[in-house]
Amino acid sequence: AGAWAVVPAAGRGARFGGEVPKQYLELDGQPLLFHAIDALLSHPGVTGVVVALAAGDERWPGWSTRMGKPVLRCTGGSERAHSVLAALETLSGEGVDDDILVLVHDAARPNLDTRDIGTLLEAAASSGDGAILAAPVRDTLKRAGAGDRIASTEPREHLWRALTPQAFRLGALAQALRQAEASGLAVTDEAMAMEHVGAHPRLVEGREDNIKVTTPADLALAAHLLTRRKG
Ligand code: CTP
Ligand code: MG
Repeated sequence: AGAWAVVPAAGRGARFGGEVPKQYLELDGQPLLFHAIDALLSHPGVTGVVVALAAGDERWPGWSTRMGKPVLRCTGGSERAHSVLAALETLSGEGVDDDILVLVHDAARPNLDTRDIGTLLEAAASSGDGAILAAPVRDTLKRAGAGDRIASTEPREHLWRALTPQAFRLGALAQALRQAEASGLAVTDEAMAMEHVGAHPRLVEGREDNIKVTTPADLALAAHLLTRRKG
């Protein structure tokens, strides 16, 4: 059976600023959120998508299908992990099996390449503990000491930046997110919740242009990367 995609899109975009939450800012004529959804649905291994929206979101167009595939919606929560868990519970409520792979992907990452989805799905299918897209750290890393002084340089050989999508079995991920919440652990990605229950998800090197739009400068960069990718 195919995988389902989950898109948390219930954030406020506080670091971006402005009136429109960043998932609805336009890039090449359509919102970042639609780019994210279309990228996921364009892969033949993806059955459908669940979008977690903020309560009172009036910008969502109300899609129930897109590209011939089902689009479900749910209301997200105050933290990203709550939004993801709400989406997973929506899938379970629709009778989707616990063993199905789910790909969790930020609404704010509009430049996902379909080849990366394929590589990630293959890695996750054979992993047992899921898999994430990630990028090796390229800069030299400094640990701050007192004030603005460098305390030390950190070896970067084994350090990666976590990207999305991140792929896990529906039941295992939902359980890990509930466990993190019960432990009071603030998780910033799905893999962190899985790690907390002892899993070792695989790292799959993803394309560097799969950036997350956090600030206005990122939106300009995303526009450039999109043009380059499609050009
Ligand atoms: N997200 C969500 N529910 C939340 C918080 C975030 O669904 N309670 C989503 C965002 O909409 C975004 C993704 O998670 O697609 C990644 O989060 P981030 O980049 O931090 O977005 P925001 O939380 O909106 O931005 P900020 O942290 O600057 O407020
Ligand atoms: Mg945030």
